[in-house]
Amino acid sequence: MNITYFNGAFLPKDEVKISPDDRGFLFADGIYEVVRWYEGFFYDIGSHLERMKRSLRELHINWNDSDQFPSIALDLIKKNGLDTQPAMVYIQITRGASKRSHNFPPDNIPLTVYAYAWGFKPDIVSQETGIKVMLKEDIRWSRCDIKSIALLANTLSFQEAFEKGLRECIFVRNGLITEGSHSNIFFVIDETLYTHPESSHILSGISRKNILRIAREAGIKTIEEAIDENMLKFTREAFIANTSAEATPVTEIGGITIGDGTPGTVTKLIIERFHAELGLLKG
Ligand code: PDD
Repeated sequence: MNITYFNGAFLPKDEVKISPDDRGFLFADGIYEVVRWYEGFFYDIGSHLERMKRSLRELHINWNDSDQFPSIALDLIKKNGLDTQPAMVYIQITRGASKRSHNFPPDNIPLTVYAYAWGFKPDIVSQETGIKVMLKEDIRWSRCDIKSIALLANTLSFQEAFEKGLRECIFVRNGLITEGSHSNIFFVIDETLYTHPESSHILSGISRKNILRIAREAGIKTIEEAIDENMLKFTREAFIANTSAEATPVTEIGGITIGDGTPGTVTKLIIERFHAELGLLKG
């Protein structure tokens, strides 16, 4: 069964018809959001909803029903029989279909709203043993804070990592580490947890926000400050964070071994606390 949400209706994926004039197709003129279902609840869907609304606002896309996202997501889980397994929901909103022109279409052109759900297998092995990632100049635009569907710089960079057998591409802008192609990144230097501050050079991750909170609650000192790439050799620990990977240790960045090349104690503590919180939420 593959029931999707399309412009107000639930229907099988192969019945979804999107116009070739859709501005998502022609201009990547839209935004997306991804939420994770933990066999009974969505993790912090309120923050995902707020971020989705912000992305829409930044692109001047006015989706009147945006508050319906949590109920659409839940319906997709139920209709696809995913209630009792780990799953994800993806939603994408574009400015709709209109004759190709750089200016926006009139307000009465309906948006295109598409969402789907799928069951997925969390990568527990990587979370336990860590991953190796590459480092590369940040070739993205200057509005990385918007969760735009225009992801070519991200996909090209991730593909480069993938072809090298690496698991993420970490970006460097003006010598400073920003984030990954689809994750935020954290470092531990002198018992302090560092991550890039919220800015137009990173996506403000929901996992990032919750990990900072969890770390502070655990008494770990946190500093939201970008790390110079030259600091990597002094970095004791590193991990990436996103909705699917939660926090996943990084043991090597751009050929530089992090710490002793195994997941560090602060990273492991944060993963443990994150999982404990999920346990409480499950009840
Ligand atoms: N990506 N930075 C970038 C560039 C991202 O694409 C993502 C998430 C994050 C982490 O955000 P969050 O913790 O809210 O998932 C940071 C999703 C998973 C994706 O594109 O599939």
